[in-house]
Amino acid sequence: MAFSGTGKIWMNGRLVEWKDATIHIASHVIHYGSGVFEGARCYATPNGSACFRLDAHMRRLQHSSKIYRMEYPLDLTGWMDAVLETIRANKMKACYIRPLVYRGYDTLGVNPLANPVDAAIMLWEWGAYLGKEALEEGVDMKVSSWNRMAPNTLPAMAKSTANYANSALVKMDAIADGYSEGIVLDVSGQVSEGSGQNIFLVQDGVICTPPLGSSILGGITRDCIITLARDLGFTVTESIVPREALYIADEVFCVGTAAEVTPIRSIDKIKIGAGRRGPVTEAMQRAFFDVINGDVPDTHGWLTYVYPDEAVLREPVKAGAAKSR
Ligand SMILES: Cc1ncc(COP(=O)(O)O)c(C=O)c1O
Repeated sequence: MAFSGTGKIWMNGRLVEWKDATIHIASHVIHYGSGVFEGARCYATPNGSACFRLDAHMRRLQHSSKIYRMEYPLDLTGWMDAVLETIRANKMKACYIRPLVYRGYDTLGVNPLANPVDAAIMLWEWGAYLGKEALEEGVDMKVSSWNRMAPNTLPAMAKSTANYANSALVKMDAIADGYSEGIVLDVSGQVSEGSGQNIFLVQDGVICTPPLGSSILGGITRDCIITLARDLGFTVTESIVPREALYIADEVFCVGTAAEVTPIRSIDKIKIGAGRRGPVTEAMQRAFFDVINGDVPDTHGWLTYVYPDEAVLREPVKAGAAKSR
């Protein structure tokens, strides 16, 4: 098995061994993509293991469920506790966190409402999504031959399993042409996002990212980057981005829980800026990694420590002791 798994999986409140965490083939989600999910990370900071923006991720899970009329009987605190309990049960220091809410097994009509709403939380170790060297060297991307879903078709703001059929097409299209990732346009031909990342451009020192109305997922890393960039004194706009703006930008980078903050050095074989990580991208990487490495005070309250004792036992890191990742 390529993916050996990690310990126990939380399923509807019970911790189940990885090999036993199965669902029936007749489950509605398998046939009709009736699931919503999250992707968050727990980092091993010098102050102990900490989940990054766990509250924002679990709130987005609740919002995704609500859009699909699939409410699950856990409030925000209940969800956060369930994630923390699963990490503790698996004794993980750092991990990727995958909560899922899905329609289970009852009937196989398209109407999902008769089926139970089930939930699971699984964890695994996941390093840099686009490779460690990509964080410094940057990646080569193409504009996908696929578009993102049109508004009022599949809701982009819901992180639903169904949306990832589109992301998979974008990813395969990119790989088939020798690129690591694809950038997708929305149905009006404006820049939307990557298959699993939000996109930022830098032009003359101003940072810009497509708005929610460009069929993007409202990324939590995107929100962090907007906040951190403003903290650093940058002007950040959320505005429509024409495709050609990508080619003439000084810098382009993508962000996401998996990709973190990754520079893009070329798009459609056109060199972006100097063809390597630019100074603004580097500044944003540093600001982001300093928070998750615990190298600066967590002024926005983005870290939730997993093991309270571990946090108490270790020395707090001094403010300003920044180091690059
Ligand atoms: C389509 C898509 N856009 C953007 C993102 C980035 O979102 P986040 O920063 O919340 O991980 C993701 C990652 O989940 C994604 O799948």
